[in-house]
Amino acid sequence: MNSPNSFAAVEITEAGQPDAVELAELAAATFPLACPPTSPPADITAFIAAHLSRGRFTEYVADPARTVLAARAGGRMVGYAMLIDGVGADPDVAQAITLQPAVELSKLYVLADSHGSGIAARLMDATVNRAADAGARCVWLGVNQSNSRAQRFYAKHGFTVVGAKTFPMGTHIEQDYVMMRPL
Ligand SMILES: CC(C)(COP(=O)(O)OP(=O)(O)OC[C@H]1O[C@@H](n2cnc3c(N)ncnc32)[C@H](O)[C@@H]1OP(=O)(O)O)[C@@H](O)C(=O)NCCC(=O)NCCS
Repeated sequence: MNSPNSFAAVEITEAGQPDAVELAELAAATFPLACPPTSPPADITAFIAAHLSRGRFTEYVADPARTVLAARAGGRMVGYAMLIDGVGADPDVAQAITLQPAVELSKLYVLADSHGSGIAARLMDATVNRAADAGARCVWLGVNQSNSRAQRFYAKHGFTVVGAKTFPMGTHIEQDYVMMRPL
């Protein structure tokens, strides 16, 4: 019998407006997992309020340049990914990402109790398929330089470090690696 988090029970769908509340709850629960212990809690809270609210997810799912993918296991949303077309405005990213058109994997977050379950791999597969279908030549992402687990996960899925960038978060600046997977 499959457990709720087993590979076969996971469903990946493109999220829409009705998913905004669940996405915001999931994002608030998982964003702190990607932050190093040195991140001030007030900056984390402020970032969640500014960028991961129900209202922001309502905007994200309506944005034609973005795709939000939701993973559900046993009916519960346990992970999500957000793709954004292009390389954005950061000159460090523009310098690092030489394969274009490109798609950014802007967010990939799974509940802690589902880490190691294969759900993140399913979201990654769906991300890569979407980007390839859209004609992209690579998927790129930024990952905190302290987030060893995520870096290992991305390396397992064909990403290599191609640069570095900063990530402003409230009163301080985080240091990211830029990673890329050719398609
Ligand atoms: C990043 C994330 C999506 C990866 O999904 P996952 O289910 O944890 O990934 P996996 O278990 O398949 O792979 C993680 C790998 O890191 C390894 N790992 C675990 N802790 C580690 C650590 N502290 N340092 C280095 N590697 C570590 C695991 O052993 C595994 O490698 P292995 O398969 O060779 O044994 C998930 O951990 C997550 O949601 N984290 C919190 C949010 C986050 O950091 N998102 C990414 C933002 S860029």
